[in-house]
Amino acid sequence: MTEASGLIVRYRDRLPLPAGAAIISLSEGDTPLVRLQSLSDARRGIEVFAKFEGLNPTGSFKDRGMTMAVSMAVHQGARAIICASTGNTSASAAAYAARAGITAFVVIPEGKIARGKLAQAMMHGATVIQITGNFDAGMAIVKKMPDEAPVTLVNSVNPFRLQGQKTAAFEVVDCLGRAPNYHFLPVGNAGNISAYWMGYCEYAESGLANARPIMVGCQATGAAPFLRGAAVAQPETVATAIRIGNPQSWDLALAAQRESGGWFLAADDDAILAAQKYLAENEGLFCEPASAVSVAGLRAELSRSAIPDGATVICTLTGHGLKDPDTAIAQSTEPIRVGSTMDEVRSVILDSG
Ligand code: F0G
Repeated sequence: MTEASGLIVRYRDRLPLPAGAAIISLSEGDTPLVRLQSLSDARRGIEVFAKFEGLNPTGSFKDRGMTMAVSMAVHQGARAIICASTGNTSASAAAYAARAGITAFVVIPEGKIARGKLAQAMMHGATVIQITGNFDAGMAIVKKMPDEAPVTLVNSVNPFRLQGQKTAAFEVVDCLGRAPNYHFLPVGNAGNISAYWMGYCEYAESGLANARPIMVGCQATGAAPFLRGAAVAQPETVATAIRIGNPQSWDLALAAQRESGGWFLAADDDAILAAQKYLAENEGLFCEPASAVSVAGLRAELSRSAIPDGATVICTLTGHGLKDPDTAIAQSTEPIRVGSTMDEVRSVILDSG
């Protein structure tokens, strides 16, 4: 038996899990800060790091919230959990429910979640409910379901989700030894930006960081309610994880932006895919399209000189690129097909030079 690990063990004194509650964990958290060598600028003293959340057990940051939400649900006697999802929450809920020996019901928009995420939910034995409507329609249904059936809601409106997710901010400060100056991250349902802000504020209040970063929330142009200042009825973007028009944590996300002196920006699908490809080709980091919106946003802000010299910048890469192989392959060059001879393979190599 190895000792229990994961973020609840690491940050136990900062998380509201009652003593004696069983910890449902897959050793999530403790993800790396990877320096982005091609976006950092030694002359200007700008340092850029990716917080690579794709290295969590189910391949996204959702595991941070799910270890807390499922541990609490089990502690309170739940036998089943439910969520609406654009894919990653369903994958994570399914895995943690499997770990806990309880049932997961996941409500997803038909045809609009990436294949890897669907495979995860199915493999972990969740009951997958595909609806014709989008994520927002699913959210409206599952929010009321605990009144109709014996299920615990594990979307980020469940406060324990944000409690778990705030630990990502703790890790950033613990790793850097101080708070960064800017933090760029994708915004969909708006739980994660709210959770990071909570984490940064707690560390500052406890004297573990002497400052808090400026938060920059990045949305896809076709699904950008924070830029419009109102819900979007028909959100559309290649970044299906953030294809959300009516974010549930609206007020918390706005507070994070205002209190930090930050802003929201939008990147179009072409810029998102270009940033995804750029990270893969220049940094060796493969993230999913929704994650790349943070880097698309940073690239735009760097090119209009909105980031001052000497700044330390974090971009959260929320999910792994393997989640969405179809989008990756669609934007890549076809493999070269040859026969199985030395001559043919060698000529490809020599021709490529
Ligand atoms: N990035 C990825 C990869 C996501 O899966 C999500 C949200 C976000 C960013 C946005 O985070 O919602 O906290 O603002 N995915 C949810 C899901 C909605 O169902 O998996 P947020």
